[in-house]
Amino acid sequence: EDLGVVAVGFSGGQCKPGVDAAPSALIEAGLLTQIRDELGYNLHGHDTVHLYTDLVPKEDPDYRNMKNPRAVSAVTKKIADQVYNQAKEGRLVLTLGGDHSIAIGTIGGSAKAIRERLGREIAVIWVDAHADINTPETSGSGNIHGMPVSFLTGLAKEDKEDVFGWIKDENRISVKKIVYIGLRDVDAGEKRILRENGIKAFSMFDIDRHGIGRVMEMALGHIGSDTPIHLSFDVDALDPMWAPSTGTPVRGGLTLREGDYICECVHQTGSLVAVDLVEVNPSLAPAEDIGAHETVRAGCSLVRCALGESLL
Ligand code: ARG
Ligand code: MN
Ligand code: MN
Ligand code: MN
Repeated sequence: EDLGVVAVGFSGGQCKPGVDAAPSALIEAGLLTQIRDELGYNLHGHDTVHLYTDLVPKEDPDYRNMKNPRAVSAVTKKIADQVYNQAKEGRLVLTLGGDHSIAIGTIGGSAKAIRERLGREIAVIWVDAHADINTPETSGSGNIHGMPVSFLTGLAKEDKEDVFGWIKDENRISVKKIVYIGLRDVDAGEKRILRENGIKAFSMFDIDRHGIGRVMEMALGHIGSDTPIHLSFDVDALDPMWAPSTGTPVRGGLTLREGDYICECVHQTGSLVAVDLVEVNPSLAPAEDIGAHETVRAGCSLVRCALGESLL
């Protein structure tokens, strides 16, 4: 099977440096070698880690409360093209981030490619401690990594071409086609947005109540069989015990096994069209390097499970 790889070291969707080093750290840990040699994929586009420093303007003042708006817009537009080009060839696409703002590009690109190729609307499984569905106006931080879902669903819109005006209907997804898993740190404004739009969400409460097995049955049931799936996995969905090196850790999260199980179930559907792994930040290690190593290792495991590694 063919796999398009997009490695983007981009950190402009939030304020902590270091998340740009994640793709190289994941690759140095052997992720792509494992995918090729153990899982048997033919890799495409894996030779470069894109930093896109040339797309970051010198002057980028806040706009509608957003930080680095032009940089994030330009980089995500570029990522959308890259993911689109891989997906339109019929390849499964793996994107290694980068902060979660890059999902504007990855989902924008795969939504468009799958519409053109299969005439279908994709579903998105968003695994995260956070809902990342703030609009520029509801966001308290102004960090765009907390806003990608609002731009992707059209809840947030902007005409200015250089500030996400490039996002068109073909890049967008319906609020009915998103399922969240792992939520536990959702802003008040986001809770209102989720409620008012009837968005399907499984919080840690639901996972504690039903168990991850039943939650995945319900999540995949909501999506319906035979629907192309884009999996966007924020490593902070995992408990900091497993993934401490991330910009916005929240205690009380998924175990590594629960994270792997989510990825295994999504793989088993046979409907996976794209996977993102985001928010690994190797420079945010609480205890001398051990945290970073563990987080990178967890990230590699999640990706391998999504691509079909199985226990037996
Ligand atoms: N809700 C907070 C915000 O909007 C945190 C978002 C964290 N997002 C993430 N991708 N880690 O700023
Ligand atoms: Mn998060
Ligand atoms: Mn996120
Ligand atoms: Mn398989």
